[in-house]
Formats: sequence, C-alpha cells, structure tokens
Amino acid sequence: MKHNFFKNCLSLFLLPFVVSCAQQANEREVETESAMIEDDVHSFARPEEAVVKHLNWEADVDFEKQQIEAIARLDIETAEGADELILDTKGLNIEKVTLGEEETPAEFKVGETDKILGSPLTIAITPETEQVNVYYTTGKDAEALQWLTPAQTAGKEHPFLFTQSQAILARSWVPIQDSPGIRFTYDATVTVPENLLALMSAENPQEKNDIGVYQFEMDQPIPAYLMALTVGDVVFEPIGERTGVYAEPSVIDEAAYEFAELDEMLEAAEELYGPYRWERYDLIVLPPSFPFGGMENPRLTFATPTILAGDRSLTSLVAHELAHSWSGNLVTNATWGDFWLNEGFTVYFERRIMEALYGPEYAEMLAELGYQDLKETVEELEASGQSEDTKLKLDLKGRNPDDGVTNIAYEKGYFFLRHLENLVGREKFDAFLREYFDSNAFKTMTTQEFIEYLNENLLEPNNIEVTDQTYEAWIYEEGLPESMPVVESERFNAVDAQLAAWKNGTPAAELETKDWSSHEWLHFIRNLPEDMTEAQLIELDKAFGFTRSGNSELLAAWFMHTIAHQYEPAKPALREFLTSVGRRKFLMPLYKKLIEMPEGAQLARDIYAEARPNYHFVSTNSLDELLENEEAAQE
Ligand code: BES
Ligand code: ZN
Repeated sequence: MKHNFFKNCLSLFLLPFVVSCAQQANEREVETESAMIEDDVHSFARPEEAVVKHLNWEADVDFEKQQIEAIARLDIETAEGADELILDTKGLNIEKVTLGEEETPAEFKVGETDKILGSPLTIAITPETEQVNVYYTTGKDAEALQWLTPAQTAGKEHPFLFTQSQAILARSWVPIQDSPGIRFTYDATVTVPENLLALMSAENPQEKNDIGVYQFEMDQPIPAYLMALTVGDVVFEPIGERTGVYAEPSVIDEAAYEFAELDEMLEAAEELYGPYRWERYDLIVLPPSFPFGGMENPRLTFATPTILAGDRSLTSLVAHELAHSWSGNLVTNATWGDFWLNEGFTVYFERRIMEALYGPEYAEMLAELGYQDLKETVEELEASGQSEDTKLKLDLKGRNPDDGVTNIAYEKGYFFLRHLENLVGREKFDAFLREYFDSNAFKTMTTQEFIEYLNENLLEPNNIEVTDQTYEAWIYEEGLPESMPVVESERFNAVDAQLAAWKNGTPAAELETKDWSSHEWLHFIRNLPEDMTEAQLIELDKAFGFTRSGNSELLAAWFMHTIAHQYEPAKPALREFLTSVGRRKFLMPLYKKLIEMPEGAQLARDIYAEARPNYHFVSTNSLDELLENEEAAQE
C-alpha cells in the first residue's frame, strides 16, 4: 500500500476537494473489505474511500455519430469520512453527475489528462451516498471502440462496433474504476439500430428483436477490463447445451464447423480444474480488424476470424480463452504488473485442455512452439535493451500496461508452472490448482500472494524445498532460469528430419509430410534456413502452396521469409493480408521485418497508409510507434 500514499498525495494537487495527506493516510487504515485492494499504478481510483459495486448502464449506440450516449448509474460503498468518488475516464464528455435516485446535482471535476491513463473524474460525495449517476458521451476516437463501415465487415451491408477494454481502455467508454483489483456486477439496456444485434460480456440474447433494445445481466462480479460490447448483423448457432457461436450470417457455418468441439473443451476444462462458473460459454467471430486472436470477455469470448482455418487446427486459441474463465476471470491479476498470473496460468491450462482432447504429443508441439517464441522474445528484448521486461513480475509505473504484453508473461509463466508440476507430480499439482481456483474465486491475486499460497498449500505439505533463489530466478530476475523444463516433441523431430533431408537435396515434393498438422507445418516454415535462394522459395511454394495458404499462422510465418528474400510472387498476398487482418500479433513482426529490408521501409509505409483505417487503436498505437521510430532513425 505504500505507493498509494504518494500517489494520493500527488493527485491531490489536481483535485478540487482538498484533504490533507495525513487525513488520507488515516482513512486508508479504516478497516473495510476493500481496504485490502492492492495499489494499481494504472488507475486513479481510490477504492479504499469509495468503491463501485454495481453498474447499471443505459446506452444508445449511434453509428452515424460514431458515439455512445449513456448514463452510468453506479452503486458504491463508502468508508467513514468519504468525500470523493474517483473514476477513471479517457476522452469522455461528462455532461452531468447526480447523486441517488432523487438525482441531486453533484459537484464534479475532470482532472488533467495523462496520455496513458486518461483523466480522473472526481465526484463530491458523502459517506451516505449510495448511488452516483454519470451522464456522458464517448469521445471521438474512443480507444476501446472500433466502428466499422459496412465495407469492413464480411457481409458488406451493415456497420459493426466492438470494444476491447483490456488492459485499461474500458475507461474510454464507461466512467468506472478501471483496475483489475476492483470487481462489480452490472446490468445494461442498450439501444442499437433495428437491424443489428447487441451482445455483451453478460447473459445474452440469441436473436434480434424488432425494437433494437437489448437487456443484459452480469451477476458475477468482474473487473472493468472484462466489460465488452459488440453490435452488428450477427446470428447465433448453438453448439452444445451450454455453448454456441455468433457470427455474421456469411461466416456462421464456417464458424460452427470450426468450433464444433467447444463442449468437449468445456468438459475437459471442468474435469481438470472444477465447475465452470459463468453459466454459458459462447464465442463471437468478429471482423478481421479485431486486434487480438481472442479476448476472454466473460460468457462471450471475442475471436478473430483468422482462426477459421477450415480444419479446426487453430482452436487452441479457443481453449486459451475458455481457460481464462478460471485463470483471469475467476482469479484475477491484482495489477498489470502481475499479468503473468493471468496469462501464464492460462497457457498452462490451455495446453492441458488440448492434451485432454488430442493427446500429449499434440500438446507437446504447442509447448515447443511456445518455447521457440519465448527464446526469440528473450533475445529480442535483450538486444533492444529491454531485458528488464524478461522478468515475470513487472514494474509498469509510468508505462503503458501494453508494454508487459509479451511472450514472457505467457511462456515464461507457462514454463514456471510446468516446472512446479515437475517438482510435485501432476496429480498433486492438479489438485493444488483446482483448490487454488476454488478458494480464490472472484478474488484478485498478487505475485507475492501466489508465492505464499504456493508455499503453504503445495510445497510445504509435500516437503519440497524451493529456495528463494528459485523464486528469484523465475519471477524477479531477467532471462531464462536454469531449471527451465525441457520440451521434446517427437513429431517435431520428424519434421526436423525432413528439413535436413531437404537441405541435403531431397526435392520438396518428395518430403514425407503426409500426416502433418498445421503445427508441424508451422515448425517446418519457422525453421527453414535463412539463406534460401529464390529458386528454393519457388520450389517450396510450388510443392506446398504456402503463399496461397488459408491458414493465417502459416501465412504469417511464410511471409517472414518472403520479405527477407524479397520474393516478388508473395507481394500481392502480403499486401492483401496486411490490409485485411488487424491482429497485432501478426502485424508487428511483419512490419518490423519489412522495415529491416532495404526497400521494405517504403513498402511498409505505403501498405500502412492504406491499411491503417482498418486497424483498431490497439494495433495502430503499436505500429505508429514502430514506424515513427523507423522514420526518426532515417533522419
Ligand atoms: N487477454 C488476452 C488478450 C489481451 C492481453 C488483450 C493483454 C489486451 C491486453 C487474450 O487471452 C490472449 O492472450 N490472446 C492471444 C491468444 C492466445 C492463444 C495466446 C492473442 O490474442 O493472440
Ligand atoms: Zn490470454
């Protein structure tokens, strides 16, 4: 809590309702349930004084103005002496604020804007205040929102809207305490154009109605980053009793085929780590500009259409988002510096689900690909002077939480858990995890709390000595620890043998690739030699049709080579890919590779100029920086 003190004192200079620092320190000692909330450097909220418990959201979605006009009615709990409620906002136009059902006008102030954090909205309250009503509209270019024109959708007839709140963008569409450590329930009434369906991270409708007004209910408390809304011409197709998929009409059949195993995944997950606590698990396939592969919005995962490979080969992403229903959504990282608790656990859980469905050899391929990603990320971060970011626990003060979204959280986190599994054996580790999710359900977790929980509930009872040094090496130090588990994928060994044969002169068309899954192909492409000739690229393309692949992972990996070798025949496909797909994970390495090449920088800028309107803020924010730095380096 000690950082809190300084932050609070600092923020006082910006605030109208001046209280002395000493008085604030006293208030923090007041014993309330929320006094335990961890300090979050990415939120202005002071939950120990007044904390949001429930949101009632009444919103009108206006595609013409590209704006949401809304009232956020917040039920709050106050500590003794409370005189302010502080909410996070970014670019919102606050029209008025009232208190209680009687709507007494309230004094409020929007503080100075921080480029990353936005502005605190400070509202004068009393300890008796139970409800605060904020009337507002979203700003132009609200960062969480992407408004798509009909041309940017599959159907080309209707506009589309989706939100992306993680990590700290919820504040750009709802005035809220936007910290992963603060949970609230919500209900909503959303008005949209009559021919469109609205969906949220809540109990959802399955079909459109005539009036374009939809009701939502989320009874389980969630942090703000899991608030989500999407509006578009979408239809629903059930998969199992508790599962189903939403997509635009022209995509729905493909989507229903691709995700046919949703129920089996859900059952496998429950079998591993306990009952699913969110009632339904549905998935929506969004238009291609969605900046992520998937986003674990409770009850309704948002997914990129780039996983519609036609052969169910990229569904580990669904296992991943589903796994977040436990790791992340149920037990939540307390701050973005503890992000590895969300993602590392989820990758571990994802691979266990895949293992349950497809067997250990399959899961081991995924682990090996993860290991390759991890090694590459460590090398890149070290080479660019960012080795601090190879730690699991990050200090992100003054930085964008997005800076912590690297393979370190995902894969170093995964391997740490795999190391723990190796120490105690799978049976004990599974029992431990099940209990961990159960006893911490709907709570937040810091890295330190996890270590304590781990010591008490797994290591000590099993007489396993884990030295401080082990924790240091895995969590607080840079690079990869000595106790890094070894991955050995037999199926990839077979791929390596074929790669070696090709390098030794066996023609590509004669390689033994018959039963390869897309993972084997990905391994093959990634490990092609760097010094290929144009003739070799042509040979591979002729034998395997990489440039025409409908699998986005393979395509992206292949383009890394075609860019490096300035392989002309792939250029139109590359342009097509970069202008239609908005998934940051693919865009960043491809643009990076392009600008490394002599004439690539110009091409990168040229493609970017065309593609940028199709990307979400999350992607343009990263790409603007990449291309600006590149330009600056040229000067
Ligand atoms: N929660 C993340 C996406 C995210 C992380 C959004 C941080 C904003 C900030 C999601 O679960 C995720 O990890 N998606 C991955 C897919 C996964 C299979 C690794 C993605 O989008 O690539
Ligand atoms: Zn994730």
